Amino acid sequence: MSTPHNPLDGLSELADRKISRKGLLKAAAAAAAAPVLVGTGVALARDAVAADAPAPLPLTPECTDGHTTIEQIEGPYFKPGSPLRTSLVTSGTQGVPLTVSGFVFGRNCLPIAGALLDFWQADTNGTYDNSGYTFRGHQFSGANGSYSLTTIVPGLYPGRTRHIHVKVQAPNQPILTTQLYFPNEPRNATDTIYDPALLMTVRQVGNGREASFDFVLNVNGTGTPSPSPSQTQGSPTPSPSPSQTGGTTTWKVGATYKAGDVVTYNGVTYVCIQGHVAYAGWEPPNVPALWQRR
Ligand SMILES: [Fe+2]
Repeated sequence: MSTPHNPLDGLSELADRKISRKGLLKAAAAAAAAPVLVGTGVALARDAVAADAPAPLPLTPECTDGHTTIEQIEGPYFKPGSPLRTSLVTSGTQGVPLTVSGFVFGRNCLPIAGALLDFWQADTNGTYDNSGYTFRGHQFSGANGSYSLTTIVPGLYPGRTRHIHVKVQAPNQPILTTQLYFPNEPRNATDTIYDPALLMTVRQVGNGREASFDFVLNVNGTGTPSPSPSQTQGSPTPSPSPSQTGGTTTWKVGATYKAGDVVTYNGVTYVCIQGHVAYAGWEPPNVPALWQRR
């Protein structure tokens, strides 16, 4: 589990820590991938394997035996079909610039190429774009498992601490839905969804921030070449929409619903008013933003 650290503490922490076989595998993979990050300015702990690396930041989270990135609720604001893009900002975007970068690893700590990462977040005022795709975008990890997102620091909205939503999916594997958090946020202490295992490493750079986070999926990484995004673009959801299969269906966890889909739950009929993947706890009518009684 990760906690906020003073970056200067990183060296001694690394020296004290027992390095597992998987940790070494990860370090090797990251070292090979390091040149890709040149220009992003992100200082990662794994850069410490390079002889001329500056003081490192701690890994977030570590890729060690049995440690995979935890799942969190999707929330009501996911929209399938986000644009393929690594930058969510335009010249007119308001907010504090933020880059989030890192790697996608398998549980064996080998990188996963071609993993889908679908990000969505609030704008600087804490508002989600539910009619369009502002601050929504998906991308695919590179052959070395790396990814990088250019965005802004999301604003706060009632009931939550600062966070970024993401779905991560290795090719043809289950989707991991989770959220990323910022250290030193007062609301981290009161947000019941917040989990420190999902803290990014964040540092201030100029007028912006640079964050890093490595995902560890519960599948084996292979390091095999990435599939073409065009082959997998638009496939962040694993199951067909009821409207594609025809007629009314019984609501179920894991199903993909589009606006207009009709389901029954406990004998009552509901109409989907916002596309999403069904998560346990989001049964109609629990989430008015998703389902409307017919
Ligand atoms: Fe949210």
